[in-house]
Amino acid sequence: MSAGTYSMGDRIPVASIADTTAALAEVVLPTFAKGVIIRRPKVMRLAERMDLDRRAVRRMQKLRETYGDGPLMLRLPLRNQALILSPGDVQRVLEGTPHPFSPASAEKTAALAHLEPKASLISEGPERTERRRFNEEVLDSRRDVHRMAGHFMEVVGQEAAGMLEAARAQKELSWDEFFTGWYRIVRRVVLGDAARDDYELTDMLAKLRAAGNWAFLHPGHKGRLERFHRRVDEHLRRAEPGTLAAVIAATPHTPETAPSHQVAHWFFAFDPGGMSTFRGLALLLAHPEQEARARREIAEAGPGGRANLPFLRAAILEALRLWPTTPVILRETREETLWRGGAMPKDTSVLIFAPFFHRDDANLPHADTFHPDLWLDGPRQGGWPLVPFSGGPGICPARNLVPMLGSATIAALLASGRLALKDPSRLDASRPMPALLDNYTLAFVPHS
Ligand code: HEM
Repeated sequence: MSAGTYSMGDRIPVASIADTTAALAEVVLPTFAKGVIIRRPKVMRLAERMDLDRRAVRRMQKLRETYGDGPLMLRLPLRNQALILSPGDVQRVLEGTPHPFSPASAEKTAALAHLEPKASLISEGPERTERRRFNEEVLDSRRDVHRMAGHFMEVVGQEAAGMLEAARAQKELSWDEFFTGWYRIVRRVVLGDAARDDYELTDMLAKLRAAGNWAFLHPGHKGRLERFHRRVDEHLRRAEPGTLAAVIAATPHTPETAPSHQVAHWFFAFDPGGMSTFRGLALLLAHPEQEARARREIAEAGPGGRANLPFLRAAILEALRLWPTTPVILRETREETLWRGGAMPKDTSVLIFAPFFHRDDANLPHADTFHPDLWLDGPRQGGWPLVPFSGGPGICPARNLVPMLGSATIAALLASGRLALKDPSRLDASRPMPALLDNYTLAFVPHS
């Protein structure tokens, strides 16, 4: 049954052609143009200047005003596409993962097949169960502080010192400098010191990810894909003490586990981890009272306590609320599902647009301000969905590891001196926070 056979009334509402076109132009297209697998810096710059993300949220609000709280089907000729518009439905879809709402949507599978065809996110059935278990165990999903945190903190301290040294020499901490240091941390944490300067590994990954941006349209790079996985396997075999590779070696796996495919996903996903850390630092520096609070927390914890800094973690979570790095959470229905408005057919692509919920000023009092307490009081505002790491059984298994490493990095940078935003007008605490903060052009200046 196609979405076109449904109409208002006993069936799920279907958007008019004009509203469908507007949703595609203002919500879907800009999100994909920015690059879902690897960001396109030029488009990011343009999107910040043109305030495209705010327009997307406004468009979603208008759709809710017109059609009620959904789900809403778009009027498309070749596919069934639903938009989720209410908090209860977000919860239903996320809790109903992986069945009937499978995370292995056709788009994700096409995009990630270039890089990690056996990743948990695009697996189904028993293979997904095994790969998800493996991810949760190795990444210590349910613990605030990873079991290898002691070693990770040493790595973060050393590499943050390197970032600062370069920043002092160049009189600024640019994204490129930060990102180079961040990926040194990532390679050392995941694979060990011997991988610290394996830039080729990260370059191969970037090229495979760029192919992923074109999903169905790209022929792929079979040779490079094999080389990449071989290289990851070589690093994993060393199982350097203190690393995730050592945890992998000690974690049972089956022939289905495909550790190098899970690790490929981690490498790619640490990219948004870096973005949110850099943006979290910017948020703190733009809000002097919050910076003072962060400095107090860092001082009280001391260098040995940096694995657990709740306030700094909350700053990173706020960066992810304000500028979610996974703006679109996609599911695909594996059977017909029933909703208030009627039935939604099997094989419908269901889209949760995180910025709509994170920045909905009609429902969230702090929608456009930096408000870390939102996360300290509990991760949900009166049941309102804040889903930078998704939710339910498909929630990101690194939801604790990322803020742990990011907050320790910010702590190490702040503890060694003073930094200021290079262009303070981009993040003015007296104004609403911008709809997008392009991390590529963000920079900090060290001062005494
Ligand atoms: C800021 C950084 C990150 C954010 C915002 C983030 C967010 C997310 C989100 C929203 C999902 C669900 C995607 C979906 O349902 O389509 C997800 C899944 C996943 N993430 Fe992350 N992630 C981040 C970093 C990481 C890192 C660093 C790792 C590994 C070290 C990781 C491992 C995973 C895995 C394995 C999945 C798939 C889970 C499954 O199959 O159920 N993520 N992440």
